[in-house]
Amino acid sequence: MGCCWGSVLGALVLLLSVLDLCNGGTTSAFVRKVEKTVDMPLDSDVFRTPPGYNAPQQVHITQGDLEGKAVIVSWVTMDEPGLSKVLYWSENSKHKHKAKGIFVTYKFYNYTSGYIHHCEIKNLKFNTKYYYEVGIGHTPRTFWFMTPPEVGPDVPYTFGLIGDLGQSYDSNKTLTHYELNPTKGQTVLFVGDLSYADNYPFHDNVRWDTWGRFTERSAAYQPWIWTAGNHELDFFPEIGETEPFKPYTHRYPVPYKASNSTAPFWYSIKRASAYIIVLASYSAYGKYTPQYKWLEQELPKVNRSETPWLIVLMHAPWYNSYNYHYMEGETMRVMYEPWFVKYKVDVVFAGHVHAYERSERVSNVAYNIVNGICTPVKDQSAPVYITIGDGGNLEGLATNMTEPQPEYSAFREASFGHAIFDIKNRTHAYYSWHRNQDGYAVEADSLWFFNRYWHQIDDSTTAQ
Ligand SMILES: [Fe+2]
Repeated sequence: MGCCWGSVLGALVLLLSVLDLCNGGTTSAFVRKVEKTVDMPLDSDVFRTPPGYNAPQQVHITQGDLEGKAVIVSWVTMDEPGLSKVLYWSENSKHKHKAKGIFVTYKFYNYTSGYIHHCEIKNLKFNTKYYYEVGIGHTPRTFWFMTPPEVGPDVPYTFGLIGDLGQSYDSNKTLTHYELNPTKGQTVLFVGDLSYADNYPFHDNVRWDTWGRFTERSAAYQPWIWTAGNHELDFFPEIGETEPFKPYTHRYPVPYKASNSTAPFWYSIKRASAYIIVLASYSAYGKYTPQYKWLEQELPKVNRSETPWLIVLMHAPWYNSYNYHYMEGETMRVMYEPWFVKYKVDVVFAGHVHAYERSERVSNVAYNIVNGICTPVKDQSAPVYITIGDGGNLEGLATNMTEPQPEYSAFREASFGHAIFDIKNRTHAYYSWHRNQDGYAVEADSLWFFNRYWHQIDDSTTAQ
């Protein structure tokens, strides 16, 4: 009898837990028509080389120091090295300053790169518009950027989020939607997988050059903060290419030394009221590794009274309910998730899965091998996890989802797009996700973020 009641009870518990599992978030009712995603041909106007002898091309900038007073300017010349100098001047001054950089080249199989220049401009004034000129002596081209405001807790700042962009017609639409979004992004947080050149025979690096020309229209005017994805590995021993990340590291420098990192794949920057930690899904992250030791020291350094918003970027997501890249982020989650909860990370942005997903605030840190507690639970100290690998690359959309939708998944949709993280002050940020096929102002998903650190201190608000 006891055994029978036990079975009934067991079945009831099982049924309740299944019902509970079914109580997930929203799978968007919007279903995007699935079409083949194709790369733009080499003669597309977005890939055009600028006219003039040895004209600088593929111009892009990124933050050059810890706090935003330096910028690294990069560009490529094709005919001859030319000068690695940058002329720059602030909007209100006629006095032109000069900074001297370097150039590098590399070979990949039977491809030889152009002359890739990198020049760091230091000691800039905060919150100032600067013009800069590259290609001095041959065909000068002038661009401009705004430095961020001085780091401080209530400084508003607007970040764009783009991932897995590639160079398809959809990639172009995504970038255009970001540029024309009425909420103007001031800096792009890019979550990895840039050009997808490695999908071409022998990783045809000409597609790295086309990608550089395609993204110049944004990346020359505002910094893009880089994260390395699997498509940056370019590891191809069969043709003798055994140096991982060779094209990426030659082309896209980052200020890793400023945050005491020992490799360009993990580093951090402060910008306005945000502290941004970039992690490397494809570099060792286990205990005792350089990345582990760096992050262990880095997280306690974050002063939330100075930079309340703690944002983490990585490529492979930890929470993903699509049937793609199953468990690829799991080992890093096991290593670092307790720290993210302890240090109250506000939000984690990842890419890799070519779709969109936003999680609840959840953690899964109770499991200890023997206790069986291995289901994500709601946790107000945990970050929101956002997958934004929906830039529009040639591999197409991830449309196949696990069913039922897990409870930790708040919203998911298989569409291409970008997002905006718009920090208002130390307590509030407005987040929105935008499909690349809607009107520029349309928000397909949105959320008010209440800062984790300041939310804990002022508990008068209860939402996310
Ligand atoms: Fe990826």
